[in-house]
Amino acid sequence: MEIPNSEKISYTVLFLISFFMLFTFSPNPLSANEAGAEKIIKEQCTACHRITGEAKSRFELRAPDLMWAGVKFKRPWLVSFLTGNEKNVYQKNYRWDLSRKPAKHIALSGEEAEAVADYIKKHLVDPRVKKDAIDLSHFTELQASFGRQLFIDHSCTGCHQIMDNGKPMGGLQSATFFDSGKRLNKDWILRFNSNPPDFVPHSGEFVADVSGLGLHYITGFIATEGDDSFKFYEPWKSEYFKNASSKRGKVIYKEYCAQCHGASGAGDGPAASGLEPKPAVHARMALDQLPMDYLYNVVYYGGKAVGKSHYMPYWGLTLGEQGVADVIAHMRETFRGGSEVAAAPGKKTGPSGVCPQPRKTRKAPARFQNMKNPLSANSANIRAGEKLFMKKAKPLACAQCHGKNGDGQGALGKALKPAPRNFTCGPMMKDISDGQLYWIIKNGSSGTGMMAFKSLKDTQVWQLIRYIRELGKQ
Ligand code: HEC
Ligand code: HEC
Ligand code: HEC
Ligand code: HEC
Repeated sequence: MEIPNSEKISYTVLFLISFFMLFTFSPNPLSANEAGAEKIIKEQCTACHRITGEAKSRFELRAPDLMWAGVKFKRPWLVSFLTGNEKNVYQKNYRWDLSRKPAKHIALSGEEAEAVADYIKKHLVDPRVKKDAIDLSHFTELQASFGRQLFIDHSCTGCHQIMDNGKPMGGLQSATFFDSGKRLNKDWILRFNSNPPDFVPHSGEFVADVSGLGLHYITGFIATEGDDSFKFYEPWKSEYFKNASSKRGKVIYKEYCAQCHGASGAGDGPAASGLEPKPAVHARMALDQLPMDYLYNVVYYGGKAVGKSHYMPYWGLTLGEQGVADVIAHMRETFRGGSEVAAAPGKKTGPSGVCPQPRKTRKAPARFQNMKNPLSANSANIRAGEKLFMKKAKPLACAQCHGKNGDGQGALGKALKPAPRNFTCGPMMKDISDGQLYWIIKNGSSGTGMMAFKSLKDTQVWQLIRYIRELGKQ
């Protein structure tokens, strides 16, 4: 977003006037606490930090500018930082050209820090940062993951570190974002992201080609990362779903979904013959048994968002939340196909009866083939794998397709071609290497219903493989 020059100037003027008023004609004299805080800041902070003036290059500064600190930081973090209880934000020193070792920041007593934080909150504000400029009350966990991906795609990790797979990832040049959600205020992040040079000109900062929804996602990601108290919105628990109408949904299905999934959900719409994987055969799926978060995410955000094919479009912008709720209501009422096949007693090869399975799965690259499971086959690892398999894995638990017994006969499994792997088929499974299993779980099996589980940590993938190996021993 570009800010016109004239507006920049008027902001600056406003800004200067407001400071002038604060320090000169303030109609309310400072309270004892405020006067004390102001004294601390003038005596102990302004030697390094500026609290008034225009943004400058960090090459002319000793420490980050604080004239907008009141709208930039969350108060609890600020107090914690000022009492010496936070890690350095800049791991290679703010002035990385001078020294590589970050110095320890001066610490205040708890009481002083509270007073200084109050003072900062009240007086160091920036009129460019508008309260509630970004609304995160409808921000979902999946949107945060889009923001994270954009953060990576747009080189942000070139200079800012985030956690990946339980480890720090990225360059150490600038502020770390491990727990940016605890530190930074959402409205400040939005304004900063909209034009970084307004705050840190000629400091190595970067203007990215992100706008509209992308800006919303990336800002939401930074504003929530590491903040456990943030409650993500769960659309499937909203009023839209309470008021959903399968009658309206039926019309939507005909107008939008039938072109691929077919008028009766047989997967035979006019577009289908050119697609691989084929559109899901809803008529054979127990869609009423699928978790709502999965159904919502695949319909609203499309196949790619849940690790599946991008041939399945994202419908949210076309249909809105109510439309998505309606079409889901229709599908859940109409498509109640294959419930899980009960295990046939006494069959060694597993109830699917197909063992060995025809298997055309792509081979993992050589460097994966030789990987060995680093986790031992103890019961803790196997149980952790089982939990993920049955319930916890996102976007969708393995059992939904591979079945509770691991035989490939889950609620969704029967509708998929090729069929999900039958893990109970020991003679076939013993020829599939750990590295192959790892690679497919991480990346999916393209052209099939097997989705990529990008959000699983390595340890979780290896726990799953421990569990899968147990299934083959039965
Ligand atoms: C000797 C110089 C120095 C003094 C004195 C100093 N600071 Fe800092 N301050 C820094 C540096 C350098 C950083 C960046 C540190 C880091 O990597 O986290 C910093 C960071 C900060 C931050 C976080 C800024 C950001 O953008 O992330 C705040 C807030 C802050 N200082 C407030 C204060 C206050 C309030 C005082 C006075 C009580 C003070 N500082 C005194 C050097 C100083
Ligand atoms: C080439 C290096 C570089 C890249 C790439 C980069 N930034 Fe920055 N970023 C900076 C610099 C420099 C600053 C100012 C602070 C400083 O001097 O380190 C900064 C500051 C920030 C801040 C304020 C952090 C704070 O605590 O003060 C945010 C938010 C931010 N960047 C977001 C992003 C986003 C989002 C992207 C990707 C679209 C991105 N940055 C890409 C260099 C970079
Ligand atoms: C352009 C073709 C196309 C259209 C139009 C389309 N879909 Fe899909 N859909 C697909 C494909 C292809 C898949 C299978 C993706 C995969 O398995 O990787 C799919 C999968 C799905 C799934 C997931 C089932 C599973 O296997 O997990 C649901 C639910 C779904 N679509 C619902 C809808 C709804 C609702 C609409 C209409 C609003 C719709 N689709 C319109 C192509 C389409
Ligand atoms: C939406 C349905 C679906 C879900 C959910 C699913 N799978 Fe699969 N999976 C499949 C299908 C279909 C195949 C067969 C792919 C093929 O033939 O290449 C498959 C194949 C596999 C394979 C076989 C790789 C090979 O080389 O033979 C592994 C391993 C696997 N899945 C693991 C998992 C794990 C672990 C989970 C849960 C974290 C999971 N799957 C969730 C549908 C699914």
